[in-house]
Amino acid sequence: MIPHVLPTYNRADLAFERGEGTWAITADGTRYLDLGAGIAVNALGHANPDLVAALTEQAGKIWHVSNLYHIPQQEKLADLLVENTFADTAFITNSGTEAAELAIKMVRKYWDHKGDPDRHEILTFEGAFHGRSTGAIAASGAEKMVKGFGPLMPGFRHLPWGDMEALKAAITNRTAAVMLEPVQGEGGIRPLPDADLRLIRALCDQTGALLVLDEVQSGMGRTGKLFAHEYAGIAPDIMMVAKGIGGGFPLGAVLATEQAAAGMVAGTHGSTYGGNPLACAVGARVMEIVTQPEFLSEVNRKAGLFRQKLEGLVAAHPEVFELVRGQGLMLGLKCKVAPADLVRAGYAEQVLTVAAADNTLRLLPPLTISDAEISEAVARLDRAAGRLDV
Ligand SMILES: Cc1ncc(COP(=O)(O)O)c(C=O)c1O
Repeated sequence: MIPHVLPTYNRADLAFERGEGTWAITADGTRYLDLGAGIAVNALGHANPDLVAALTEQAGKIWHVSNLYHIPQQEKLADLLVENTFADTAFITNSGTEAAELAIKMVRKYWDHKGDPDRHEILTFEGAFHGRSTGAIAASGAEKMVKGFGPLMPGFRHLPWGDMEALKAAITNRTAAVMLEPVQGEGGIRPLPDADLRLIRALCDQTGALLVLDEVQSGMGRTGKLFAHEYAGIAPDIMMVAKGIGGGFPLGAVLATEQAAAGMVAGTHGSTYGGNPLACAVGARVMEIVTQPEFLSEVNRKAGLFRQKLEGLVAAHPEVFELVRGQGLMLGLKCKVAPADLVRAGYAEQVLTVAAADNTLRLLPPLTISDAEISEAVARLDRAAGRLDV
């Protein structure tokens, strides 16, 4: 008999009743060190008092207001996003997938608005993940996501990840956009070198194609910059944000330059819940915290400490791990064993991690993780790996 919850997930036999900072706690009080943070979502830790206050304060006033009216909390969040990024404008969504959908629509509308509606090919990369809507799976093209869901939305061409020669050969002055994650998340914590990101920007500039960056997983301080593309000193035309921006409350956004958003006039897009007061009150508070310079310098300091300890872990278990990669607190351990086995061994040591493609174990802890918790995390990962040592 089919379960009452549609069985689309492979779930661990675990449930959490509450959380405290970097800890997720079961009903019987067992404490798990959370290095997954809901897959890069709980950026400021579980039950962060600032975010609880922002949410409950707003909850006592008004929960939902239609976008038929002004929503001051949404305007405040948009102001913070625009002031701290390349963007001139923001549309607030409830999730990363919705942000991807709008980004794709915005690209198409941009060219339509310029009088060139047939210019709609978007170049994407193998290993990409932009969500599970029909548009987002077509953008990814991965067999495991698209199988059985055809006919797929047309307009995407998939290139090998990081293959700049393939991109140079594919991009033309008929290309509508290039869309990618600066650090692939689901694809296995694979950062694109800064030089490649700069080359992609230059190729877009030469051809007129829009550059669309998906920073749903890599954004909001995760890599030690507010957004990962800042390392390369470039800016996109359109960017998707989600996950960490809500600190655990469903929230996303599409940011864009005025030029890229030129076609998105009244009536071209909308959402009942997107930009609601509850989500935006939390998101604005997250932005205020993450944009403090000392917050990001602490992320970088802790990332250095974590990474150094992980190098030691890899050296101690050469049969289990191959290498450490990633940026900031978006870390991956490329494994020689199946990462799912390590995730399971982690449960036995009360540490939560997340598997990704390319045989990689993902470590995406709350950005507020303490030095002591980093040491504890590595001790637990060491014991977990010990369970798989051959
Ligand atoms: C890079 C990236 N884009 C988009 C998404 C989709 O976001 P959501 O699950 O909030 O719809 C994800 C989710 O993992 C992601 O990592």
